[in-house]
Amino acid sequence: MATDVLIVGGGGREHALAWKLKQSPRIGRMYVAPGNGGTRLVGENVAIDQMDFENLAKFAKEKNVALTIIGPDNPLGEGIVDFFKLHKLRVWGPTKASAHIEGSKAFAKRLMRDAGVPTAEFEIFSQHDDALAYVRERGVPIVIKANGLSFGKGVYVCMTLAEAEAALEEIMVRRVFKEAGNEVVIEEYLDGQEISIHALADGKDFVLFPPAQDHKQIGEHDTGKNTGGMGSIAPVPFVTAAALKDIETRVVRPTLRALAEHGAPYTGILYPGLMISQKGPKVLEFNARFGDPETQVYMRLLKTDLLDILEASTDGKLAGMNIEWNGGFAVNIVLASGGYPDAYKKGFPITGIEDAEKVEGVVVFHAGTLYDKELTTSGGRVLGVSAVGDTLQNALARAYEAVEHIHFEGKYFRRDIGAKALR
Ligand SMILES: Nc1ncnc2c1ncn2[C@@H]1O[C@H](COP(=O)(O)OP(=O)(O)O)[C@@H](O)[C@H]1O
Ligand SMILES: [Mg+2]
Repeated sequence: MATDVLIVGGGGREHALAWKLKQSPRIGRMYVAPGNGGTRLVGENVAIDQMDFENLAKFAKEKNVALTIIGPDNPLGEGIVDFFKLHKLRVWGPTKASAHIEGSKAFAKRLMRDAGVPTAEFEIFSQHDDALAYVRERGVPIVIKANGLSFGKGVYVCMTLAEAEAALEEIMVRRVFKEAGNEVVIEEYLDGQEISIHALADGKDFVLFPPAQDHKQIGEHDTGKNTGGMGSIAPVPFVTAAALKDIETRVVRPTLRALAEHGAPYTGILYPGLMISQKGPKVLEFNARFGDPETQVYMRLLKTDLLDILEASTDGKLAGMNIEWNGGFAVNIVLASGGYPDAYKKGFPITGIEDAEKVEGVVVFHAGTLYDKELTTSGGRVLGVSAVGDTLQNALARAYEAVEHIHFEGKYFRRDIGAKALR
């Protein structure tokens, strides 16, 4: 019997998941709420907001959806999984208690300290004067983080004392993140290359995905403001099998165990962001969901049926499951609106996607696009141009060739995706 699914979210991640699910021989109808200009090509967009749990659950019930898959952090953090379970609906993702590992950086840091998971040295503050005294005593460089979800803007990597003082002022005095800034984590600055690890867990067991690397900053050579991700690669050539095993043993396993001991056994994707520093791997943060740019490369490499593995994760049946990956590499280049991550204009027509997809190995995922008679830009990150290849260089060459076919006013992208991993 065909399996009908509902995907909650509307970014590149959800388009990539829908694209891959569509290839399952068992897939039935696929709904995406709210979806975007790309998800409508593989499924049916449903105009329900991702935070409208009431209407999402009602829709899942009415349509007899067999599985609801939650993409973004906000509904997970607010307990959409618990809400669906309360209504006896089958749902994939972590509960609110489990997603707290992303929703509270202070909770994550304390859990890591207790479980002996390698992370930057830190202190937690709720009083501005104490935090200020600590920063002045420790000196710079130093990293200041608002505790809660802050739309990716709550982390300040401070190279001068003036920057650090301004960060504390914004978070704790002007309270720009409101209650997400009730506590701040102040931590040691780490130098090195960042990588993304994804572990798929089912409450008891877990399976690791290949390592991926996102490029968070807007400017080439990792300069300028942080974004939701400007491009990604997988696997990461410099992360050896032994290094991945070490991360599994020292980070993933003890964290999942600690969550289970806290009464929050983890189901879904646990995604630690790591700094590979001189002193070995150190956790920067945990996310309780798929990374958006990472998903766009993972789905290009995944060989096993995605529906099979999401159902196994949901039902606690991952033990003994073998997840297969295609050889070679996948890359993703994000095309953004000019001005992003600051203010930008929307509503520009997009052309050339078909030509881009004629380049061998290329698939274009949509993020901030809207289809209404024509396809237009509707967000900061507009498209993800993905490519696979036998080598990382080959995949990059294909993706960059495809990028040239796509046009919209203000199109911006980084030309150095994958460059540092090749160095
Ligand atoms: N201790 C640190 N040392 C150096 N850079 C850091 C440190 N912590 C975070 N960063 C940088 O800031 C970015 C955002 O931090 P992160 O903790 O991942 O928060 P979020 O993704 O919630 O904004 C990271 O991707 C990394 O580039
Ligand atoms: Mg992060």
